[in-house]
Amino acid sequence: MTRSTWRTRIGFILAAVGSAVGIGNIWRFPWLTAENGGAAFLTLYLVLVVGVGVPGLIGEFVIGRRSNRNPVGAFDELAGRWYRPLGAIALIACLVILSFYSVVGGWILRYTFASTTGAYFAAPQQYFAAIDYGLGAVGFHVLFLAATVAIVYLGVERGIELSTTVMVPGIVVLFGGLAVWVSTLPGAGGGYDFYLSLDVSYLRENFFSVLPAAAGQALFTLSVGAGTMLTYSSYLGEDRSLAADGTLIAVLNTAIGVLAGLVIFPLLFSLGVSPGQGGPGALFVSLAGAFAELPYSRLVGVVFFGVVLLAALSSAISILEVLVAYLVDEHDLSRGWATLGTGGIFLVTGTIAALSPSAFGLLADTLSNVVLTAGLIGFLLFDGWVLGRLAREEFGRGAGPIAQIFEAPWYYAIAVVLPVFLAFTLVTSVAGIVGIDTSTGSAMALALIGITAVVLTFRRHGIPVERSA
Ligand code: PFF
Repeated sequence: MTRSTWRTRIGFILAAVGSAVGIGNIWRFPWLTAENGGAAFLTLYLVLVVGVGVPGLIGEFVIGRRSNRNPVGAFDELAGRWYRPLGAIALIACLVILSFYSVVGGWILRYTFASTTGAYFAAPQQYFAAIDYGLGAVGFHVLFLAATVAIVYLGVERGIELSTTVMVPGIVVLFGGLAVWVSTLPGAGGGYDFYLSLDVSYLRENFFSVLPAAAGQALFTLSVGAGTMLTYSSYLGEDRSLAADGTLIAVLNTAIGVLAGLVIFPLLFSLGVSPGQGGPGALFVSLAGAFAELPYSRLVGVVFFGVVLLAALSSAISILEVLVAYLVDEHDLSRGWATLGTGGIFLVTGTIAALSPSAFGLLADTLSNVVLTAGLIGFLLFDGWVLGRLAREEFGRGAGPIAQIFEAPWYYAIAVVLPVFLAFTLVTSVAGIVGIDTSTGSAMALALIGITAVVLTFRRHGIPVERSA
């Protein structure tokens, strides 16, 4: 069976942007920004998107395009069976993320419907509390999952490429319109201040709690670490600049994320709602409650949640596609059976998250940061220490003169600097989860020891260069 490829370059870019832009930008990002000091978080996050997210994204692309395989098969193809577990981490990350993502997708779907009648207008807090977990949440999760399965079932070109080519421009146009409209509301200025003015002392005092949260969000928002970008780039045919494509994708994702903030924060401030309440319900309770006060409230609600729904769907399909690609490539399943089978798994795991707030919180808040970080560390060390020269060669394939300047800095960043940094944030967040208070020094030391151990193991089992040349 011949493997699918993207029809056009722009089709690939829009699909990748569709994966990146999602509830991470619209729901998780404002929630974390509000919890972590507004602009202080935004600043650190932007730095990390440029310094960690983009090189990491290119690191995934290198493996995907070089191998033309799913995450597990990619490592096997490039370096042998011994490396397959690196891809298994990515599969686990996909399991973790889509399990809660589909529940949030279900909430959004419900709010899109509920906006047509204004069902949540009178008592937004109570409305959300009544629908967030339980059988209703299960029902809407199943509907959202069914839509995801349907698109992936149709395949890379007819399903993913076609749908994201419509969805992504739709998201930009609708959000752009909302941002302009929101700026005309009285009192919107307070939102811009909160969002855009930097409180350096907050950042200084809380640096080590804000850092892992911002790093995790930088990966989450770019869909890096779970193999989605690796899989999407495995459908690339011709040689184009991975660095240029990666940068463009990150710029578009960040622009849409900032645009979402320019809708959400001014809107909240104009209605006197504090964004600091935080928690996963923030978007639904405060924002949805705010809509009730506005002219054309139902229309605003339908448009807003409709856009968020498109964004969520275009990300969910990228996660499902990783598992489908794995089953199709490695186990010779037809796309149809692979899609239905993985859909069945998420039917169960998502139902658990839709019934249990603690399972949901664990998946959405802490575990997803951990699996994405661990996944990306594996990808980057593989690029840096196993592929080595070949990774640089792949980076250079199709690269223009500007991208070529970045080849060496990119390589040293992904081989050395980023793994150490990511291991540090990983140690800090795992310590946070199990309740150990680590000092910066001990977290750094553990990170260094861990990375060195992995690198030494990789060197020992490293591949002779000819094998995948
Ligand atoms: N980037 C998506 C968002 O911001 O909503 C979430 C995501 C998709 C994370 C795919 C990871 C992933 F592999």
